[in-house]
Amino acid sequence: MINERTDCAALTRPGSLRDNGPVSTDHYFSAEPSAPARPGEVEFSVAGHDYRLVTASGVFSAGRLDPGTAVLLRKGTLPAGGTLLDLGCGYGPIACVLATTAPSASVYAVDVNARARELTARNAEALKLPIAVRAPDEVPDDVTFTEIWSNPPTHVGKAELHMLLDRWLPRLAPDGTAWLVINRHLGGDSLHTWLVAQGWQVTRTASQKGFRVLRVT
Ligand SMILES: C[S@@+](CC[C@H](N)C(=O)[O-])C[C@H]1O[C@@H](n2cnc3c(N)ncnc32)[C@H](O)[C@@H]1O
Repeated sequence: MINERTDCAALTRPGSLRDNGPVSTDHYFSAEPSAPARPGEVEFSVAGHDYRLVTASGVFSAGRLDPGTAVLLRKGTLPAGGTLLDLGCGYGPIACVLATTAPSASVYAVDVNARARELTARNAEALKLPIAVRAPDEVPDDVTFTEIWSNPPTHVGKAELHMLLDRWLPRLAPDGTAWLVINRHLGGDSLHTWLVAQGWQVTRTASQKGFRVLRVT
C-alpha cells in the first residue's frame, strides 16, 4: 500500500516554475540543471516501509511521489533479490524501494540528470542502502539485470524513448523482467505495441488512474 504526503512545491514540468520566478529552460532530463536547486522532501510508504526522501527543483516530480511511480510500486511485483536497475531514477524513489525490499540485491540507479543522481546518492546514504548511482555511460558493459524498473521519460519524445529502451532492455538477463509504467495519454498503448513489434513479450498487468503497468520479458 502506498501513502503519499507532499511537503513542498517544486519544478515538476519542463520549463515551468510554480512561484512565477524566472522562466527556466531546464527540463527534468537536463544533464546539468542550471536553475538553483530549491530543496524539498517527499514522503510516502510502500509495502510497510516509510520513506522521506530529499528532492530539489530541476528533477522530475520533486514535490510529490509521481502518481505513475506510485502505481508502478503498488502494482509491480517487488523482487526479493537479483541485479536490479532503476532506469531514470530521478531523486531515487524506485531505487530506494527496491533496495529496501530486496536487501540482498545489487541495485543500480541511472539517470542523465546530475542533480537527480546526487539526490539519489544522498537518499541512499541516509537510508544506508548500497545503491550504485551512475550516469548511463558509467554502468559496466558486462552487467546484466534480472529486473529493470522504470517510469521512463516521455517528454524526451518517442524516438528518444525508443532509443533508451533499445539500449537498456537488451541488458536484461535471459529470464529477466522489466516493469514499466506509462501514462496512457503519453503513449502508453503505442509503447506497448512498439515493444511487441521489437519482439518483447508484454503483459499489461495493471491499468490505474490512466497509467499502464507493463511487464516486459
Ligand atoms: C519520468 S522521470 C522518473 C523519475 C523517477 N524514477 C521517479 O519515479 O520519480 C524519468 C527520468 O529519466 C531520466 N532520463 C531521461 N533521459 C534519460 C536517459 N537517456 N538515460 C537515463 N535517464 C534518463 C530523467 O532525467 C528523469 O529523471
